[in-house]
Amino acid sequence: MSRSARLAPTVTPSLRTLTVALSLSLTLTLGLTACSGPSGVHATPGSAGVGDPYFPKSGNGGYDVTHYDLTLAYTPDTSDASDTPETRDSAAAPTLTATATITARATTPFSTFDLDFQGMKVNSLTVDGKKAPWTRSGQELKVRPPTALRKGRTFKTTVRYSGTPETITDPDGSDEGWLPTADGALALGEPTGSMAWFPGNDHPSDKATYDITITVPKGLQAVSNGELRSETTKGTGAGDARTTYSWHTPQPMATYLATVAIGHYDITRTTTRNGLPVYVAVDPQEAAASRKVLAKLPEIMEWEEYNFGPYPFSSTGAIVDRGGDAGYALETQNRPFFPGAPDTATLVHELAHQWYGDSVTPKTWRDMWLNEGFATYAEWLWAEDHDGDTAQQTFDALYKGTYFDDKADDDAVWAFPPATPTSAAHISDSPVYERGAMVLHKIRRTVGDARFYDIIQGWAATHRHGNANTADFTAYVEKMAPGKDFTEIWKDWLYGNGKPARP
Ligand code: TRP
Ligand code: ZN
Repeated sequence: MSRSARLAPTVTPSLRTLTVALSLSLTLTLGLTACSGPSGVHATPGSAGVGDPYFPKSGNGGYDVTHYDLTLAYTPDTSDASDTPETRDSAAAPTLTATATITARATTPFSTFDLDFQGMKVNSLTVDGKKAPWTRSGQELKVRPPTALRKGRTFKTTVRYSGTPETITDPDGSDEGWLPTADGALALGEPTGSMAWFPGNDHPSDKATYDITITVPKGLQAVSNGELRSETTKGTGAGDARTTYSWHTPQPMATYLATVAIGHYDITRTTTRNGLPVYVAVDPQEAAASRKVLAKLPEIMEWEEYNFGPYPFSSTGAIVDRGGDAGYALETQNRPFFPGAPDTATLVHELAHQWYGDSVTPKTWRDMWLNEGFATYAEWLWAEDHDGDTAQQTFDALYKGTYFDDKADDDAVWAFPPATPTSAAHISDSPVYERGAMVLHKIRRTVGDARFYDIIQGWAATHRHGNANTADFTAYVEKMAPGKDFTEIWKDWLYGNGKPARP
């Protein structure tokens, strides 16, 4: 295999190839109408959602958040551990008391705007320091600023809130939002869980920087995204000493990637060979089982930089909680989350998401295959480079229907096209992961290895810290490989129903 492309420094792809392919009609008609929203999605101010085809209430129109400043104080619920969020005594003391200050810029003039916020109790709300009336209905927190805002105006909304945050169940049945654990709690956000623990513009199209400060009883740790700026303990009494952890995320982050993990953790702080800070937090019960795989994290980071281009963030790491604390791993920014000791493939997958998903983020939830297809293909490439099956062998097994242990799983690969999941309940199904990876493999076979690595590195470089959709991707591939014909790959593999006739 030619490795030259992987060694090549990432160049600005638009300088490499000046020919722009024109055969975009198929993909463009499936994209959202370009409009005034943060990344091309359209919604009017005060509307309940940003226009996501799968989660219509997610996000809001009229503004673009630039920064979230979240100050949280958490006291784990020490009442009956078998209580669920539904059965817990609603009069019980709040477990979370918080202030969110949201800095945003008006993208159109408006007199009311919405935030996404589910559950909890709003205690007060101000816009630019002045009290503002609000109403709540479902996940929409509707705010009337004291004076109408003109286009371009930057404004700060401060929301004080308290209560016990909700666990949200996804259309696909998985749990997210705020998840109490044996020794603390976890906040996981994909796709709509962040609105359970902070008010905001809960849609991947509106990315922002974050300061997340968490105060917990002394003896507990609080881990979040970005870099730890400070850790201070106040109070001396046996019961009242509390520790405050301040985390700073300087690169834009989608709401669904924000996390907080509260509990007992073994913390390891190191740096990679090129000086990147590594912060790894592991539940002591998972420490022994995790050690060997987590020791590979620097090597995986180096392999991914070599293949995908420069790492987009200013720190890396991992959070490992107990198995069962959540039903899935998640690519929380800087520091992916694992429910129990990860295996190597899952660590490769979640770290690959830092490029594909976290830095280049989908414009809408329809574009999920751009996350999961890439992260799955990263697993195939890792296997190929480390004495496992080649990507071609994995592709062939999937096409033949001999990849999974049972036929239903092998058939499920063809249930719908990767670019258009059937509904919100299916955005994390096999066509998005495996068939998405098969699309990338088809592109690789069409253009050859050297050009393929140029494409995946260039894609990460072009949309670094931004948003992109499937139409952006197909246009980019065509631009990067003039003279190659992708008609069948787009029509049959990416957008077509059923199993394509030829592998
Ligand atoms: N993105 C996760 C992964 O790394 C899987 C996942 C967790 C997910 N929660 C989700 C996917 C909600 C879609 C929706 O594969
Ligand atoms: Zn994934």
